[in-house]
Amino acid sequence: MISASFVLSAASASDFPATGLPEIALVGRSNVGKSSLINALVQKTIARTSAAPGKTRLANFYLVENFYLVDLPGYGYARGGEDAAREFELLSAAYFRLEAGSRRRLAGILHLIDARHPDLQPDADAHDWLQRTALPIAIVATKIDKLTRAERTSHLQALENDYDTAILPVSAPAHQGFDAIWKAIRSWTARP
Ligand code: GTP
Ligand code: MG
Repeated sequence: MISASFVLSAASASDFPATGLPEIALVGRSNVGKSSLINALVQKTIARTSAAPGKTRLANFYLVENFYLVDLPGYGYARGGEDAAREFELLSAAYFRLEAGSRRRLAGILHLIDARHPDLQPDADAHDWLQRTALPIAIVATKIDKLTRAERTSHLQALENDYDTAILPVSAPAHQGFDAIWKAIRSWTARP
């Protein structure tokens, strides 16, 4: 059993907890499968998922063993229109901005991209932005169960060509690909 629990939702930077434990951020378009991946990794339902995009609107912190998983609001969709979209971006930007003397320890980023759509501009833009944090990043290619075998090969190849980080394919319902993600998390959180 993996110990995992929801800790808090942060609406702004002042709500981010300062625990000193390493944090792994999950970033990706709305509906890409961030919350589903958290539940799949810890093998219980601690994050709310939804078929409608825009479900996670706050930064949600989950304590997993000795680190945090942080579910950031998805980009590319906002129920509240442009103002809400900007709010989400500000929250994510604030999350990655470490104040001097902060006890927060950002250990790595899981950037989720829907494997059905490997070539969307918002994902490329987000990746460029995330790279500026200089944190370790892995791309998680989600929903591979929705692809044919031929599509799997060609779409994963497209991601390999476009991004120069590790590409980790996953399927939440088919329970595929979690070992590689755990391996990345372990290596990032083991750093002093
Ligand atoms: P927001 O909170 O809106 O940003 O979305 P999210 O990225 O947290 O997505 P969420 O985990 O809520 O999943 C969105 C939808 O995709 C849900 O209907 C999930 O069941 C579905 N889903 C997530 N991962 C997979 C997957 O690997 N395969 C399939 N077939 N469906 C998935
Ligand atoms: Mg979510």
